[in-house]
Amino acid sequence: MIFFRSNLFYLPQLETERLILRRIRMSDADDIFAYSKDPEVARYVLWDAQTDIREARQYCRSMIRQYRLDEPSSWGIIERFSGHLIGTIGYMSFDEHNHSTEVGYSLAHWKWNQGIMTEALGEVIQYTFSSMDINRIEAQHETENPASGRVMEKCGMHKEGILRQRLYNKGRYVDVSLYSILKSDLNRSSESARNQ
Ligand SMILES: CC(C)(COP(=O)(O)OP(=O)(O)OC[C@H]1O[C@@H](n2cnc3c(N)ncnc32)[C@H](O)[C@@H]1OP(=O)(O)O)[C@@H](O)C(=O)NCCC(=O)NCCS
Repeated sequence: MIFFRSNLFYLPQLETERLILRRIRMSDADDIFAYSKDPEVARYVLWDAQTDIREARQYCRSMIRQYRLDEPSSWGIIERFSGHLIGTIGYMSFDEHNHSTEVGYSLAHWKWNQGIMTEALGEVIQYTFSSMDINRIEAQHETENPASGRVMEKCGMHKEGILRQRLYNKGRYVDVSLYSILKSDLNRSSESARNQ
């Protein structure tokens, strides 16, 4: 007998005021390369700045493969007004037994500090709790990258602590701050918004 796995990680198109979150396509490679070649963007993430457009194409290919295999994967963040892909956000890992997932994201440098990742992460949190059997969403950032922690806080995530030298990134051991949000946190915050 053949068993078909349900599509746990099927990523539907999501929309916010300024953004469209959609699955990545091969035609996004130029936009991805445009910001992923910037060492500032790559400084606190676990990938190296790209040096060749072929690396962006390889990234698109691997995302498309992950969609096909129903593995944790990322949305492209598309700016509505330009139609350009300006970043990515998605699931880094999935703990099936504990109904928990980790999210991660990155954004073109020229779009920083305009509230874009807060808008994207807020939408992904809403989607995850309303459409997937997930109880806990985690995110972590290097302590030297406080802007990312601020995004998590603005989206209602709680800081749980600092994990000392948790990661070895770009030749150094780095401390990371761990954040989480629970499904019940989201229910509580919508209840208090209704009562205001
Ligand atoms: C981290 C990142 C996603 C933030 O995205 P963004 O769209 O600029 O975030 P937002 O504009 O929604 O919010 C950023 C917040 O951080 C604050 N901030 C920016 N630089 C800061 C700093 N050095 N220290 C403290 N806060 C900082 C901003 O003021 C803003 O908070 P505010 O709205 O209260 O003023 C973006 O900088 C990025 O992609 N960086 C490179 C990749 C990366 O680090 N990814 C995360 C890995 S964990």
